[in-house]
Amino acid sequence: MTATPPQEGDLRVRPAKAEDVQAIFHNIGHWAAQGKMLVRPMPNIFENLRDFFVAETVGADGRTTFAGNGALHILWGDIAEVRGLAVAPQVQARGVGRALVAACEAEARRVGIPTLFAWTYTVAFFERCGFTLIDKTRGLHPRVWSECLRCPFFVGCNENGVIKRLDGVPMPLDLPEPPPAQVPPGIR
Ligand SMILES: CC(C)(COP(=O)(O)OP(=O)(O)OC[C@H]1O[C@@H](n2cnc3c(N)ncnc32)[C@H](O)[C@@H]1OP(=O)(O)O)[C@@H](O)C(=O)NCCC(=O)NCCS
Repeated sequence: MTATPPQEGDLRVRPAKAEDVQAIFHNIGHWAAQGKMLVRPMPNIFENLRDFFVAETVGADGRTTFAGNGALHILWGDIAEVRGLAVAPQVQARGVGRALVAACEAEARRVGIPTLFAWTYTVAFFERCGFTLIDKTRGLHPRVWSECLRCPFFVGCNENGVIKRLDGVPMPLDLPEPPPAQVPPGIR
């Protein structure tokens, strides 16, 4: 069977490569400057590059154009975080965000992680992707706080937590207990 050749207007999502890091960094920076997400330093993107997916659109000449990025970061055996999700400004509201979240979900399924989590200011988008808003003061998985210490809002956390249980992915057997979390003040 031969692969279908790329068609104009196609949206593709693939694992990120080193050459994508500048585009990812600038895309996240664009939205962070507007207060829509937290800034992610370039060393952090390189260190976590295998977490990242890149979306691209196919032009009339068959060339691809960067359309956005998102990452799946494994927190523990039972939970992984969708983070660094940002769609390029010129292709907002065309299904790119949903496609990036779907790639993260497929990756979680591949490695056998049954729960997705995200911190976000854009709850409605995640709800459209099957996530549910949770009460962050109520006993969350300790690993969801793993990046909070580097966050400028560690005191006065203003993001929302959303969660999605993946149907058909069983809880891994013999999971060890996660270490206790450094929870932001005022949460519990
Ligand atoms: C939030 C974001 C990732 C959404 O990506 P997108 O490609 O524009 O969204 P999609 O076209 O895939 O939308 C999927 C669904 O979510 C809805 N949706 C998207 N953004 C929404 C928003 N801000 N508020 C409410 N609903 C939204 C769409 O209407 C669509 O609904 P449908 O199921 O009825 O079709 C994108 O707007 C973005 O990059 N924003 C800036 C950075 C950001 O906020 N990142 C998230 C931080 S975790």
